[in-house]
Amino acid sequence: KSYRVAILGATGAVGTELLELLESRAFPIAELKLLASERSAGRSLRFNGENIPVEQVCDRAFENVDIVLASAGGSTSKTWASVAVEKGAVVIDNSSAFRMNPEVPLVVPEVNPQAAANHQGIIANPNCTTILMAVAVWPLHQVKPVQRIVASTYQSASGAGARAMAEVKTQTSAILQGQPPVAEVLPYPLAFNLFPHNSPLNDLGYCEEEMKMVNETRKIFGSQQIRITATCVRVPVLRAHSEAINLEFATPFSVEAAKEILNSAPGVKLVEDWKSNYFPMPIEATGKDEVLVGRIRQDISHPCGLELWLCGDQIRKGAALNAIQIAELLVEKNLLKPLVNSH
Ligand code: A2P
Repeated sequence: KSYRVAILGATGAVGTELLELLESRAFPIAELKLLASERSAGRSLRFNGENIPVEQVCDRAFENVDIVLASAGGSTSKTWASVAVEKGAVVIDNSSAFRMNPEVPLVVPEVNPQAAANHQGIIANPNCTTILMAVAVWPLHQVKPVQRIVASTYQSASGAGARAMAEVKTQTSAILQGQPPVAEVLPYPLAFNLFPHNSPLNDLGYCEEEMKMVNETRKIFGSQQIRITATCVRVPVLRAHSEAINLEFATPFSVEAAKEILNSAPGVKLVEDWKSNYFPMPIEATGKDEVLVGRIRQDISHPCGLELWLCGDQIRKGAALNAIQIAELLVEKNLLKPLVNSH
């Protein structure tokens, strides 16, 4: 059996990767629709050796579609997801629009695939930093529940979209030529710089990105008890995020046990060579499916603490790959029939 798939936001950083992954993973496609804004109408993109036209999104675009992979921002998803569901499609949404909606499953296939079964037409793809952390922490949490997580992130430009990636390159060459960097997409120059994540701040001084790590991780893990705090920072890296993660358990967790668990955990690749100080790096995580984890060590400040370091491709596992894995899960478990229309 093959499926009619639409990509909403096909021309963006994540959309382009979705297209590549559908091809390279040989997702069973009967028909592919590429949707974006009116700015992109008339363009075409390559898929399986063919040029496929990009259409401006409209109501009719969702007719006769089984799966919509949406990655065009929260407001676009809010506008179009219900239209697509009404027309019988299942929407896998990469935006933050529905993630905390109790009726919408928030799924990382390595962690909570079973949650997808309860969908009512929309399944949310978590925030990128959250996905990467969840893939690495869940296998440990399965063995010994984690009580507290302290995360510091080093987030690439790709999280702000294709135009932000281009802007970092332009800023870098401007600075190398002695010109001032121009920031139009990002709030401040990112080349040769970094800044705290610029999502809106709450009354407690946490930005939205940090609160996504807190709230989404709890929802994915199915545990409101875990205490989580994060500091999210944008760094001048193109497309892989890094995270320093401190974990606190109720009893000590040996480094050896943690390494053994992570060594066979799905979606994780252990990368450590202590002799040469070689650990995960964003340039090596780029283009890879796995979350690279290393520098696993005892926290010297707490007997029940572990420290670890990870890097993961923000566009792949942080977004497009996770969404495709959800689509594959729906196919494999026969979950494509939207429950909302199944009476
Ligand atoms: P377009 O290229 O036509 O602007 P990124 O995350 O890399 O910035 O990409 C965002 C994606 O979302 C692009 O494909 C973009 O299309 C699409 N997009 C943005 N706004 C809209 C909109 N209002 N309607 C449909 N697609 C949109």
